[in-house]
Amino acid sequence: MSFLRSRFVQAVLVLVIAFVVLRFGIRPPAPWSVLTLYMSIVLLAVLVFVSSDSDSWRDFVRPIRETLVNPDRRHMRLGLLIALPLLLGYYAYTQAAAKPQAPPELRAVHPAPPASIQFRGKEIQITGLDNPLRKDQASFKKHVAAGAETYIRNCVYCHGDNLDGKGHFAPGFNPPPANFQDPGTIAMLQEAYLFWRVAKGGPGLPKESTPWNSVMPAWEDRLTEEQIWQVIMYLYDATGQHPRRWEESH
Ligand code: HEC
Repeated sequence: MSFLRSRFVQAVLVLVIAFVVLRFGIRPPAPWSVLTLYMSIVLLAVLVFVSSDSDSWRDFVRPIRETLVNPDRRHMRLGLLIALPLLLGYYAYTQAAAKPQAPPELRAVHPAPPASIQFRGKEIQITGLDNPLRKDQASFKKHVAAGAETYIRNCVYCHGDNLDGKGHFAPGFNPPPANFQDPGTIAMLQEAYLFWRVAKGGPGLPKESTPWNSVMPAWEDRLTEEQIWQVIMYLYDATGQHPRRWEESH
């Protein structure tokens, strides 16, 4: 084991062991920036150690010198000549190569609604349409109660029991379920806009809203026209928000 007495081998060993300990011995793993910092300190310490006296320093640089000038190290030189640029090139490549990442999501959150939609084979005019259930003030409470039931059965696990978009499933979705308490959602939309969104869901969003991976389901096959208007009434009633009126948007 005489080679262990060589300063050069000692220095390399210390660096390798320090790296292995820092990289794999720390739980949770230290970030690369910290690792680089520690390794620089270890390298500095090693250099101070091997250069502490001139014998030690000569011993340290001897293998490097020999590799560079001795005729019998020709093959090693050639190997290094090929391997070093390759390694550096690979490193540069890993740094510069495009990493897979989600595309930036530039999307229209509230795209213009279609003028009309097909609902169960019937054409419903969206532009200018008001919630027909609001005409009969006497049944307001009844409709809101029915809407609450529809909400609890179908919407609560995404939009949350406080209507704040924090349902049980919410953390799994991007974009997250709409927070109806937020003044930026239903408060600035007409009820007919909501009708369109509830009926057609994420799949019904127009192209300008892509890339858009909305999980908002299309409810047209599961809820009746009346149930959708009721759940919309519930959303406004429970949050204390008021729907936007059509006149204001012109
Ligand atoms: C599987 C989860 C999920 C369920 C269930 C769900 N939603 Fe959604 N909803 C979303 C997500 C996600 C969004 C936000 C993306 C979008 O607008 O499509 C959203 C958006 C909306 C919007 C649009 C709000 C805005 O500001 O544009 C309305 C209205 C809405 N949901 C109502 C409902 C109603 C009513 C129900 C029940 C009948 C329901 N949602 C059930 C996930 C869900």
